[in-house]
Amino acid sequence: MTLLALETSCDETSAAVIHNGRILANVVASQISLHAEYGGVVPELAAREHLHNLMPVAQTALREADVSVSQLEAIAATRGPGLPNALLTGFKAAQAMAFALSKPFLGINHHEAHLYSPWISGTPPAADFAAFQPNVSLIVSGGHTMLVHVAGELQHRVLGSTLDDAAGECFDKTGKLIGLPYPAGPVIDRLAETGNPKAYDFPRPLMNDANDDFSFSGLKTSIRYFLRDHPGLADDPQQLRDLCASVQAAIVEVLVTKTLKAAKRLTVRCVTASGGVTCNSALRRQLAAACARNHLTLRLAEKNLCTDNAAMIGILAERILRQRPHAGFQPDDGDVLPNWSLDEAPPGISAPGG
Ligand code: KG4
Ligand code: ZN
Repeated sequence: MTLLALETSCDETSAAVIHNGRILANVVASQISLHAEYGGVVPELAAREHLHNLMPVAQTALREADVSVSQLEAIAATRGPGLPNALLTGFKAAQAMAFALSKPFLGINHHEAHLYSPWISGTPPAADFAAFQPNVSLIVSGGHTMLVHVAGELQHRVLGSTLDDAAGECFDKTGKLIGLPYPAGPVIDRLAETGNPKAYDFPRPLMNDANDDFSFSGLKTSIRYFLRDHPGLADDPQQLRDLCASVQAAIVEVLVTKTLKAAKRLTVRCVTASGGVTCNSALRRQLAAACARNHLTLRLAEKNLCTDNAAMIGILAERILRQRPHAGFQPDDGDVLPNWSLDEAPPGISAPGG
């Protein structure tokens, strides 16, 4: 099967062409520089930029894949969760294409797609991933932080999620307090490489609580007070690196501890992780060490597939269509679901024509 997938849930405009579980093209136009001067994603700007970029990105993906529109057998797009107007751009464009081509259309849950991104590339190949279920999956980015129990193909249950800020948001907001550019996550990661993670002691919220939830807003507040009480500290290059390493250590220790606790409690054999924060080198290192100590297989999404991309949308859409050949909507069916929870049944899994 050959399909085109679009992703526009936040600030990446992406189109991918998937053929039998392989990525033929995955084009991502990032809007980071557009939003940087505002220190975060501006929803209205994001939607306008998607409209501007969507068709060129889709055309580039088709050209790179050497696939013509007439060869497409289905069209998929992110249906939610995400920014309402940003979602609308990709979702409605994909519906229109499916309508024009008389092909099935699938609206995909963005979080569910993240669950599949660790399996897109690497060893073993995606086809084998049933052998690694059940697993516990960490989805951690600027918009979400959650632990999911993946019992089997297309079967999952949210174990817990953040009660306030996402981990990536904590990286970004901390960076803003320190005066680092947006998004601060990668900058903090780089500065932390030569910093002392034990230099300053920041709280590890909910780390030892008997639940799978997260909370990062208190950590951000304690960093704010720390900076108030230590004026000028971040102006010293080594103290700045120590601060970044200490903040990162607090976030990463919570993520790793809670992921491993859930994996052990549920006696799974495998842990997976995806989302922008999974690019973090300390998180990758510490998850690897913790999984090795506990004889768990670890499957991390490749860095370029951690951040938002249409390949994960297309890979999941193809798997859904293979399992449920009649899953495609009529192209005029359905609307975006900005608050679509991963635990809600996928709407529209219905017979063709309805
Ligand atoms: O998945 P993503 O591209 O978009 C969503 O938020 O959905 O993730 C972006 C987030 C930002 O908060 C960014 O600071 C964070 O991922 N991030 C990192 C790193 N690379 C990206 N955080 C820590 N370390 C990194 N290396
Ligand atoms: Zn995402």
